[in-house]
Amino acid sequence: MTTSPKRIALIIASTRTPRLGPAIATIAAEIIIPRLPPHWTLDLVDLMQHPLPLFTADPIIPAGLRQPVAADAYADPATNAWSALVRAHDAFVFLTPQYNWGYPAPLKLALDALYHEWAAKPALVLSYGARGGNKAAAQLRQVLEGLHMRVCARGVQLPFGKGHDLGGGVISKETDARWRAEDKKEEVIAAWEELVGLVNAVAPVADAPSHAHAPSAPAPAAATPAPPAADESSDPSKTGDRKAKPLDKLAAVFQRSTHRPPRDH
Ligand SMILES: Cc1cc2nc3c(=O)[nH]c(=O)nc-3n(C[C@H](O)[C@H](O)[C@H](O)COP(=O)(O)O)c2cc1C
Repeated sequence: MTTSPKRIALIIASTRTPRLGPAIATIAAEIIIPRLPPHWTLDLVDLMQHPLPLFTADPIIPAGLRQPVAADAYADPATNAWSALVRAHDAFVFLTPQYNWGYPAPLKLALDALYHEWAAKPALVLSYGARGGNKAAAQLRQVLEGLHMRVCARGVQLPFGKGHDLGGGVISKETDARWRAEDKKEEVIAAWEELVGLVNAVAPVADAPSHAHAPSAPAPAAATPAPPAADESSDPSKTGDRKAKPLDKLAAVFQRSTHRPPRDH
């Protein structure tokens, strides 16, 4: 099967320290990367690396911009960079915690900073929290639909195990055991396959690269040199190791984030 190149972004929505987001993103990436169709890439987009202005003197309402959105459409350079990044991606996996029954403010800011850039692109919601972040996921889905994204019917909710340290930033043994018992890996696989189907459902534009309108897209995290993975298995329990450096491990996982088809194909 031949497929055109696609870039998918895995967005980490939590920006606090410590945080669980990178450890769960590692698990998700280890499940998704081996299942990337030919010529597809998974990029890590950590909102901590993309701060956007909370206060702006920009009179522009993103929905009011002409399409295609120009590279300098916004007053703030950070917003223009964010716009380029989102334009450069064909679909998004949102990984969000639940904060007080909602999703984190930096994610809302990142969504509201743009409008047309999100439209018609497929989105998958992965959430976590004491009960799997179900309320945050529901709110996020509603907002993504308001942005005219095509949201996967399947989402994955990752509930913490008994005694999980909510503030600790580490996946506990109990939580890991619960995810295994509830076959969360299979849920992620099924949801990912749905996202792939939504991406493939878009008719390709003749003779146009999928990112022709995003010349200044920032380099994805996958391009960043990183140390070799200490453990390259997809065993979620390894990610819960308190000694592991979650960001190092995450970077190592994303070094392998482009599907390379076998040579004889
Ligand atoms: C401000 C705040 C509010 C929270 N509210 C909820 C909540 O409503 N429901 C829940 O299950 N967990 C809640 N938690 C616990 C988080 O799910 C837990 O801290 C998780 O690790 C947050 O993700 P992060 O570490 O990636 O930021 C909250 C945590 C914070 C920091």
